[in-house]
Amino acid sequence: MESRAKYLELTGRFQTRVAAMDAEHQRLVDIINHMYELYQNEGTEEELFAVLDELLEYGAHHFADEEAYMAKNGVPTLEVHRRIHKDLIEQVVLLKGRLQSGEEGVGEYTFKFLQNWLMGHIVGTDIKEYGMNEPSVSDLSDDELQQLANSLENKRN
Ligand SMILES: [Fe+2]
Ligand SMILES: [Fe+2]
Repeated sequence: MESRAKYLELTGRFQTRVAAMDAEHQRLVDIINHMYELYQNEGTEEELFAVLDELLEYGAHHFADEEAYMAKNGVPTLEVHRRIHKDLIEQVVLLKGRLQSGEEGVGEYTFKFLQNWLMGHIVGTDIKEYGMNEPSVSDLSDDELQQLANSLENKRN
């Protein structure tokens, strides 16, 4: 199995060092891990849709909080960042539609995409733009580099 999927963990390199944002990222990680768990244990479609809805709802809440934090701190990249968030929400809505239409393999694709997106976004965008601890790429483990590379690949597709 070529899957690299596993439970996500917000280790130090994935922390922005802004406590409120790290707590919200943790909740997003928990939701995506729940999705992974459903996949592993062949959860029902209803369970999967419920988690996706939770993600959409909590994701929107986090994005709004994060954008407010960035605005308050005068982070200059706010508008582009806002567009990236909006884009993700749109992609998740589209994926949900594909899942609802019963398309094969979309469930697995969805949580892998979300795992890569979230971790890549936290390292490559959140931490870079407002984090208190900008890590250098040379600090990343092989797994984290792979996650970052996957997320960049997803952005291109
Ligand atoms: Fe963000
Ligand atoms: Fe974030």
